[in-house]
Amino acid sequence: MRVAAIGDLHVQESDTAPYRDLFNEISTVADVLVLCGDLTNFGKPTEAEILADDIKSCSLPVLGVLGNHDYECGCPEKVCEILTSAGMKILDEQAVEIDGVGFAGVKGFMGGYGRGELAPFGEPIAKAFVDEAMNEARKLENGLRSLRTERSVAVLHYSPTVETLGGEPTEIFQYLGSQRLADAIDRFDHVKAVVHGHAHHGTHEGRTPGGTPVFNVAQFVLKPLTGKQYAVIEV
Ligand SMILES: [Fe+2]
Ligand SMILES: [Fe+2]
Repeated sequence: MRVAAIGDLHVQESDTAPYRDLFNEISTVADVLVLCGDLTNFGKPTEAEILADDIKSCSLPVLGVLGNHDYECGCPEKVCEILTSAGMKILDEQAVEIDGVGFAGVKGFMGGYGRGELAPFGEPIAKAFVDEAMNEARKLENGLRSLRTERSVAVLHYSPTVETLGGEPTEIFQYLGSQRLADAIDRFDHVKAVVHGHAHHGTHEGRTPGGTPVFNVAQFVLKPLTGKQYAVIEV
């Protein structure tokens, strides 16, 4: 299966059919389109409506996750509802199977990696912060566990590894993702690829500590590298 993936669409209110031609192009080279969060710039329903129109005109199955930007206006449920009505499948609690390939995904959260990983200790707000990262990892693990496919793809916004963050300032790595996501992924042999966005200045390819291939598909990473805003990954 050819999986086209793109992250960080950042659709704005002033845009007119911003992804229509691109989605049409992708329809000719892939079997599924995966959107890796920051679908809108501020999480405004009007921005989601603009992307929804482009999704409606896409002939491929479209699935994906929200990003932090899609939460900015405080109505991620509305953004989900608009995109779902247009035919996009938002992964989160529910994994899906398309032509024998499984897809499970969550937005993910920050929290850091290795020695830099924040622990749930001390003030309640520090514990709540870490809880959010642990919850996202738990949802991802549950989704992956529900799949009965031999091959699956994990879909994220935040990064599960530092390997695809190279190019970003190391001081902000802990805000770009969480190793807890990789811990969940590495429990399953059937995950053949992980796609994420969020790190606009990161690196395209890396691996989880367990060796699963990870692709940063933020369009701002891909365009300078390949000339295209999307990646096509064979699974
Ligand atoms: Fe972004
Ligand atoms: Fe983001």
